[in-house]
Amino acid sequence: MLGQAIFESIDVIRRNPRKIVRALTPRGVRTFLEIAGAPHHYDRKSRSPISGPPPHRPRPLFVESPKRIRPEDCYWYHVMNLPRFGPTPGEWDIRENFNAYVGNVPLAGRTVLDVGTASGFLSFSAESAGACEVVSFDIDTGDRQHLLPFKDSLYCRDHAAWAEERTAFFQAWKNAYWVAHRALRSRARALYGDIYRLPPELGTFDVVICCAVLEHLSDPIRAIASIARHAADHLVLGVWIPDLGFQGPIAWFLGEADKPQNDSVFWAYSLPVYRHVLTMLGFEIESTLTADFKFREKPMTRTAIVAKRVSPHPV
Ligand SMILES: C[S@@+](CC[C@H](N)C(=O)[O-])C[C@H]1O[C@@H](n2cnc3c(N)ncnc32)[C@H](O)[C@@H]1O
Repeated sequence: MLGQAIFESIDVIRRNPRKIVRALTPRGVRTFLEIAGAPHHYDRKSRSPISGPPPHRPRPLFVESPKRIRPEDCYWYHVMNLPRFGPTPGEWDIRENFNAYVGNVPLAGRTVLDVGTASGFLSFSAESAGACEVVSFDIDTGDRQHLLPFKDSLYCRDHAAWAEERTAFFQAWKNAYWVAHRALRSRARALYGDIYRLPPELGTFDVVICCAVLEHLSDPIRAIASIARHAADHLVLGVWIPDLGFQGPIAWFLGEADKPQNDSVFWAYSLPVYRHVLTMLGFEIESTLTADFKFREKPMTRTAIVAKRVSPHPV
């Protein structure tokens, strides 16, 4: 078979000399090897063919920092002090009490995964607090998000159009992250994806922080289980815990049929729910810290649940 292929290739080149040049290019060699039925992938540097199955080239895990972002293409979720910009016009102002917001979990010298980073304040603050490696995670495309099913909403009427809008909306949050990243000379890396299925190759971090995200998910328990796999030591859940005057494990549905504008909050749980779920996952609650934080200039109560891993996650 190889002999026949050599013969056919030489014949083709003899009849059309311009093909000699093409035959000497990597593509030409590939064509020749294809005829011969040989594998056709190449070492990039030496340009010589490699035998055996094609090398596996995994997609890069982390995203590249975009080159240019216009300020008008940013949505600032957090108020942040950026060199040269001054304070950003965000909704959440936790500049004064970041440590309380993350339950005073130790960060210096530790690796940190910030799940649901938005414009990145928690990631950048973790870096300032001495974290040795920070990875910021957020949603990749709008269609990953779920909303409450108000029948007249674009979400229900034309889901594809809504998803497109939503992707653009989240892009503006990401733009703000990258502007801040550059201004603060951050070394944090970012990846986007599905909170219910983070890539296993991301590995584990000393601390996983997930604040103000769970109430926006239709299945927060599945999300906790997903992110907990990446927490080697501490898992911090920043949540709102309603005072229901009852100590049992309660899930409180936050949707109200006459408030279509509040279509992105699903559940609030009592502390025992978190205790049960975290215990199932091999953690115990080390501490909780409840405090007021500034949201749109008004105080808003949040609780940081700091959970410590007490038994290893099965690989
Ligand atoms: C309210 S912000 C919280 C920002 C920050 N963690 C904080 O506490 O200040 C919610 C974040 O969760 C992200 N988010 C919402 N739904 C998500 C999903 N299904 N998967 C991944 N991230 C999601 C949003 O993109 C946004 O960045």
